[in-house]
Amino acid sequence: MKQQIILEVKGVNKSFPGVKALDNVSMEVRRGEVHALLGENGAGKSTLMKILAGVYQPDSGEIFIRGRKVVLDNPKTSRDMGIGMVHQELHLNPHQTVMENIFMGREPSGKLGFINGKYLYKQTEDILNKLEMKMKPNQKVGELSIAEQQMVEIAKAISLDADLIIMDEPTSSVTEEEREVLFSTINRLRKQGVAIIYISHRMEEIFEIADRATIMRDGQTIETRDLDENVTIDEIISSMVGRKISYVSHQRKNPSDDVVLSVKNLTREGVCYDINFDLKYGEILGIAGLVGAGRTEIMRCIFGLDKKDTGTIMIEGKECNIKSPKDAIDLGIGFVTEDRKMEGLVLSLSVGKNITMSILERLSKFNFINDKKAVDLAKEYIERLSIRTPSHKQIVENLSGGNQQKVVIAKWLLTQPKVLILDEPTRGIDVGAKNEIYRLMNQLSERGIGIIMISSELPEILRMSDRILVIKEGRITASFDSSECSQERIMKHAL
Ligand SMILES: Nc1ncnc2c1ncn2[C@@H]1O[C@H](COP(=O)(O)OP(=O)(O)OP(=O)(O)O)[C@@H](O)[C@H]1O
Ligand SMILES: [Mg+2]
Repeated sequence: MKQQIILEVKGVNKSFPGVKALDNVSMEVRRGEVHALLGENGAGKSTLMKILAGVYQPDSGEIFIRGRKVVLDNPKTSRDMGIGMVHQELHLNPHQTVMENIFMGREPSGKLGFINGKYLYKQTEDILNKLEMKMKPNQKVGELSIAEQQMVEIAKAISLDADLIIMDEPTSSVTEEEREVLFSTINRLRKQGVAIIYISHRMEEIFEIADRATIMRDGQTIETRDLDENVTIDEIISSMVGRKISYVSHQRKNPSDDVVLSVKNLTREGVCYDINFDLKYGEILGIAGLVGAGRTEIMRCIFGLDKKDTGTIMIEGKECNIKSPKDAIDLGIGFVTEDRKMEGLVLSLSVGKNITMSILERLSKFNFINDKKAVDLAKEYIERLSIRTPSHKQIVENLSGGNQQKVVIAKWLLTQPKVLILDEPTRGIDVGAKNEIYRLMNQLSERGIGIIMISSELPEILRMSDRILVIKEGRITASFDSSECSQERIMKHAL
């Protein structure tokens, strides 16, 4: 028996000024399947999903749900049709509680139209329990970690009892454990006949969870494939990028023994304890560990975002007193944070402005802002990082997730730091663009910049690091030369 088709997209087109985001896109999703949607940054995945969620209208083309042609003219129509969506960017209100966020706009009301708080609490508690989430329904979302917030988004989509749930990079910042729970939830939903469209740049994940995959390239759907034993990761990647690809790795050229950054006995109660390490010029130091091990927190203390209790930080042999990020930047430290939307970008400004923002002071040395120079620099970095944008004038908010990421990196590169801290630099970045970032890291290292890279992807840590520190519960549990290291050895000290 042919499996029932729940969704059919036929010949959908969508253009934005200067960009053809979707070009005659077609795909079919069956009941009870996990259908991966794959493609490089800017391929059109999120745009297609936003059309299904009623956020954008297609310019032309047809959409059928359970065989019936539909017009998804706003998010509510789409929800009423049984489509739930976990957005790539968090859409929660940080000032509201978990339950308010989950039931936003559709609170079950009592006879008199009052919101029945008790009922809401109970409903939310049930959903959280199912997802093995430990937070309380009345906790403020702003107090949760990014990973927890992402789980709330997922809880929200599941609570709709949707027949089709779209997950746009749901695991980009969740912990290992949360991902396990998410996957078992997905498997349970699949058994109940719910279809899931799953977007991720992590190939291993796709092979673990998805039944079929549709591949997009440059706004077009290239093919749909069964993910059985006959298909390999390499084939899928070639289909995504239209060519064969192999990862760049790092080999340190002319290693110097001079230390650029030295951290001694750094402690912040409840966060990290007795952290000691040296970073040499041109060295890439990989920081491995589980999400939540305290890796980001250590870097926040070094960068002056959080106060340390004890310990010293030395730059080029001189002890320094870093009280704020500004002090750190003045001393030559750059920090590409993991929460780019909050800390890295001004979404309403252009790509060019965002890239050159941090060096405007330098460009305006002679008391006038050198516009031409700023634009040239922006263009140069758009080119070097292959940022996909119609021009430097595009508003950053309109870029795809991965391309926004590259803008943040470009911005920090322009500050010409001595030490660059990268927190999960390739999260949400496609295979081709990852290589671009690795190449950049190699160039920076050759120029003598010391790089600290936090990453949860072990293959990346192994390929790109000269040395690797493993962090567990706020402490360094191991330090390896990358030549004597392996995934197993790292995991042994991380777990
Ligand atoms: N609101 C918008 N205005 C203008 N251009 C847009 C808008 N939304 C998306 N685009 C452009 O459409 C193209 C497709 O973007 P989309 O977000 O769908 O990519 P994606 O496949 O989800 O990429 P990623 O993997 O980076 O998330 C990109 O070139 C993007 O810049
Ligand atoms: Mg996207």
